[in-house]
Amino acid sequence: MTVTDPHTTADLAAQTRPGAFPSGFAWGAATAAYQIEGAAAEDGRTPSIWDTFSHTPGKVAGGDTGDTAVDHYHRFRDDVRLMAELGLTSYRFSLSWPRIQPTGRGPAVERGLDFYRALTDELLAHGITPVATLYHWDLPQHLEDAGGWPQRDTAHRFADYAQIAAEALGDRIGIWTTLNEPWCSAFLGYASGVHAPGRTDPGDSLRAAHHLNLGHGLAVGALRAALPASAQIAVSLNLHAVRAHSEHPGDLDAARRIEAVGNRIWTSPMFKGRYDEDLLADTAHLVDWDTLVRPGDLAEISRPIDLLGLNYYNPTVVSSLDNAKDLPRHDGHGDSTHSPWPGADEVAFHLAPGEVTAMNWPIDPTGLSDSLLHLHREFGLPLLVTENGAAFDDTVEADGSVHDPQRAAYIQGHLGAVADAIAGGADVRGYYCWSLMDNFEWAYGYEKRFGMIHVDYDTLVRTPKTSARWYAEAIRTGRLDH
Ligand code: NOJ
Repeated sequence: MTVTDPHTTADLAAQTRPGAFPSGFAWGAATAAYQIEGAAAEDGRTPSIWDTFSHTPGKVAGGDTGDTAVDHYHRFRDDVRLMAELGLTSYRFSLSWPRIQPTGRGPAVERGLDFYRALTDELLAHGITPVATLYHWDLPQHLEDAGGWPQRDTAHRFADYAQIAAEALGDRIGIWTTLNEPWCSAFLGYASGVHAPGRTDPGDSLRAAHHLNLGHGLAVGALRAALPASAQIAVSLNLHAVRAHSEHPGDLDAARRIEAVGNRIWTSPMFKGRYDEDLLADTAHLVDWDTLVRPGDLAEISRPIDLLGLNYYNPTVVSSLDNAKDLPRHDGHGDSTHSPWPGADEVAFHLAPGEVTAMNWPIDPTGLSDSLLHLHREFGLPLLVTENGAAFDDTVEADGSVHDPQRAAYIQGHLGAVADAIAGGADVRGYYCWSLMDNFEWAYGYEKRFGMIHVDYDTLVRTPKTSARWYAEAIRTGRLDH
């Protein structure tokens, strides 16, 4: 999705005419197990790679861990009540693999499943549609010890876990997503090392990418077999809205490379049953694709799915290294001397113009509308925005309230972009704000707050911010101009 000439977002009045969001549109919020649950050693759960990584000195800001996180495991009923007060119609969360299948193999732990039974019962009792993600980065440490995602066996273990989860919870969860942002799992986890398990081998990161794809396909098969015919299966991808800095051939080639290893490495095998020739050529010196991809793998990976989930935060502006000299540089994926972009060493990343969030991520909703329209034209699948949101440095007022007009404006602008994409013909079925509440932001620990609900990390008290009230009004009225 190279975009060299971004259009401007249409005015809000046009976006909020009646019907801008179709009836049944999912107004949601999202979280992930390790980021919110806590209870890391309760009810049979064993460590995931993120427990190990966060307990390794120097890996996470402030030495923070998810041991307690925001204690959602014990406070989920209060959290569902807050969701209901916001008027959410859907909630996207992830299942913790090591809570359900502690060693990543063998039978399920019923107490782990019971937590998700209770959570989903509570959601359904409040009229909130649950959307479950099977893998949001918490690989059981046992499986990493056996080689992790660079090992083919991990894909098979993932499919077994998918089957267990579907058999146990398929009566109450109708929408399932396999992987969340496999780009981060493969390349931040195994190439740049800023995410768990913190490895820095580009060849292994590409092996991880293929086995994540294979795990997705095998899991789709397992889910289809175990779930009712009405169930919908999806995947959530952080597809980069890549923009070439100029029309210069070197810059266009930089954009092509980043699209290949950022986006098409997932979408081509999943939706076209192939790896693209340019990706194979760009990375041929790092991995032997001919032995990595076995006969039958691509048919498995390209099993049809029902919905495509897009996680979008900011556009990605690139140039060739030669053209990068006087431009402000940007990484946005943490400090590492190791690149998370195998085969793209000649690419420079730049800060897009304009305002940024507390992550130093540029704010540009046109990247979202462009991406949705591109995906609609290219793959024709119904779409969900499975994540979108912003970190800002919130301050708590003397009376305990938290005013975050910047976050409300961010959500407003991006919902406007969703309305633009719908007006342009894209079949967008829902929007999930990241995040419902402040939580463990991976390598940044608790330092970066993405929530619409503030969490006091000393008392764990939850306080809806201004953005939560803004979102509740948007949900109630279906309009954005308030
Ligand atoms: C994407 C990830 O899926 C989520 O876990 C993370 O917290 C947000 N982006 C913000 O970085």
